[in-house]
Amino acid sequence: MISKTMEEALNRQVNREFYSSYLYLAMSAYFESASLKGFAHWMRAQATEERTHGQKIFDYILARGGKVTLGDIEAPRGKWTSAGKVFEEVVAHEQKVTGMIHTLVELADKEKDHATFEMLQWFVKEQVEEEANAGDILAQIKLVGDIPGHLFWLDHQLGKRE
Ligand code: FEO
Repeated sequence: MISKTMEEALNRQVNREFYSSYLYLAMSAYFESASLKGFAHWMRAQATEERTHGQKIFDYILARGGKVTLGDIEAPRGKWTSAGKVFEEVVAHEQKVTGMIHTLVELADKEKDHATFEMLQWFVKEQVEEEANAGDILAQIKLVGDIPGHLFWLDHQLGKRE
């Protein structure tokens, strides 16, 4: 059984993971409208991945005999004007999520909740990957700059994401 404090904190994280999915879906729509189909595809895959993150915690709460409470999902407010602006926001968002995961780890440690601590280690590693992937793409966007031909090459590369 998990504590009420932990249950609430994990439920909040479920919400933030679903918000991440919503945010990336909005970014995918922006890329579709900008005719960058590869970027749109990458974002849609990312949105799906975020949903699986939320569901992973959702399943964990249930497995520990906790109560899942689904709250409202905040609407993404971004009005993006370029691929660079989008990925700057992705990097900042993932850094924020990393902070949230670390706060959860600290809570699990404080409560001596070893099972939750262990479950969260997957997220700690995942965040390293998430930040690195977004950071790499942002760096590549900066490298190609505003040269349309090069941006299309990058779009093609991102369209290959499984
Ligand atoms: Fe679920 Fe992108 O962190």
